[in-house]
This record gives sequence, C-alpha cells and structure tokens, in this order.
Amino acid sequence: MQVTTTIVEYQKTIEQTSFKNLKIGFVATMGALHQGHVTLIDLAKKECDIVVCSIFINPTQFNNPDDFASYPKTIDKDITLLQQANCDILFVPSVEEVFPKEQKLKTYSLNGLDLLFEGEKRPGHFNGVCNVVHRLFQIIEPQKAYFGKKDFQQLAIIQHMSNQLNLGIEIVGCETARETNGLAKSSRNLLLSEKAKSDAGIIYSSMKEAKSELEKIEIPEIILAAKNKLQKIPNSKIDYVSIAETSMLEPIYKRKEGQKIVMLVAVFVENVRLIDNLMLNE
Ligand code: PAJ
Repeated sequence: MQVTTTIVEYQKTIEQTSFKNLKIGFVATMGALHQGHVTLIDLAKKECDIVVCSIFINPTQFNNPDDFASYPKTIDKDITLLQQANCDILFVPSVEEVFPKEQKLKTYSLNGLDLLFEGEKRPGHFNGVCNVVHRLFQIIEPQKAYFGKKDFQQLAIIQHMSNQLNLGIEIVGCETARETNGLAKSSRNLLLSEKAKSDAGIIYSSMKEAKSELEKIEIPEIILAAKNKLQKIPNSKIDYVSIAETSMLEPIYKRKEGQKIVMLVAVFVENVRLIDNLMLNE
C-alpha cells in the first residue's frame, strides 16, 4: 500500500503507476478503523480496479471541541488493517492540505435533509461533512465512493449532494457491520468500557423488536416501547428515537401504503454518543 500525505504526492502515485485510467473506488474515513470500514474496502475491492482510503479527522464537522479532541487516533493500527485489507493507496492529509486558509468553506443546499436528527442535534455538522467529502472527491477523483448505512442520514445527504452537483460519482451504500451482541461497530466504541459495550447491545435489540412489532402496534407505541428498552442501559441518556420515511427523513406517526421506513436512534452511553438505525420494512 502506498501512503500519501499531499495532493501532489497522491496525483504522482496515480500517474506513475500502472493504476492509470483504472476505476478508482474511494472510502473516506476519520481513522480508528474497524471491521465496519473494512466492509467498505472489501466491496470497493470487488467493484473497482484500485481502492483509495483517506484518513482525515475533519475539524469542520465537529460542533463540540471536546468531541474533536477526544476522537480516537490509532494510525499505526489503521495502516496494518488497511494493508491486510489490500487497500492500494492511503491518503492522510494535513488540515491545510484539505482546507487551505485562502479557501472559504462552502454552504450546501441540502433540501432540509440536514435539519433533522443529527443535523438538529449537531448544527453545521452536515455542512462540514459535505465540505470535506466534496473536497476529497475533487482530490481523489473516484468513479465510485463507498459509505456506510450505519450513518443513514450522512449517506442520504452525500447522495443528494452528489446528484445535485452532478459529480458523476456513483455513491454506494454498505450494510452495517455489528459486534456479536448487535452493537454497530464504531470508532467511538473505543471510548466505552467493556460493560458499556455489552449493555449497548440493547440498541440493536430494541430496534429489532420494533421491526417485529410493526404489523401489530401503531408507530407511537413502537417508539415508546423502544424508549423503555433503551432506558434500561445503565449510565445512558436517550438523545432521540424516531421512525422516518427514507426519502426526506420526515418523522412519521402513521404508516402509509408502500412507504419505506427506518428507525433512527441516538443514545449517550457513558457520555459517548452512539447512533444506529434499522430499516423496519425491508
Ligand atoms: P467514519 O466515522 O470514520 O466512517 C467512515 C465510513 O465508514 C462512513 O461511510 C461510515 O458510515 C462507515 N461506517 C462506520 N461504521 C460502520 C459500520 N459499523 N458498518 C459499516 N460502515 C460503517 O463517517 C465518517 O467517518 C465521516 O463523516 C466522513 C464521511 C469520513 C467525512 O469526514
């Protein structure tokens, strides 16, 4: 695997190697890599000629400085994992390389998709995500880019941005990789105690229960039942539990024929904010 830290170095690597003119698959990450990230690399490997992964903890998407400061950093382990996954090129840029001082941040029009859920709880977060993803797309120039369904709203927003700006990049959504107890793999899990990781399995089981109840009880009752279950996680606080239709992410309280719906959950466990989701009628 070639490790590149500047745009010039990345471009030279692409130009000088036999990789020229081949289909590039791109996986953007913030590091602290785990099996969830590897799922994305694996799919990209299958569908493209070469795979480029970026590791960049994007300051513009953190609205809480403590969250930014405490974001886990495990670069040596990350490189080993990427080598094992046969990633071809790793791009690890500095902040100045991605966001030169003279370049202003853009404001993206996201059709209200950025105002709910994560957007409501973390103002400006998705504009920061769009800035970094758009910029990385311009640098890496991939044909396909892979994102996890674990971050359901992020995937919807990146798909929207890519369509609206006509970027000509195919956005591929990948299934959520989970621990054996159902907890979605996440870099933030590194901040949890073993006990909390085990307790947080309730997040997935509460969503699965909601799915199994879908034909039996109304949406408000399903949400209430999920909240009651989630409250049993020790040292936790629910941020939101909602059921939304999948196109505009509008919360729903009554089901409509043919509508695809998803349960979205955010919970603080030991003060670590965990998000997850499950398609309820798929
Ligand atoms: P990060 O949290 O590192 O995630 C990078 C990619 O891995 C995202 O597309 C995310 O949805 C996916 N991912 C994370 N956990 C996963 C899991 N358990 N199963 C499957 N995929 C998973 O998301 C970001 O970084 C950033 O916002 C980024 C897009 C890189 C922009 O800075």
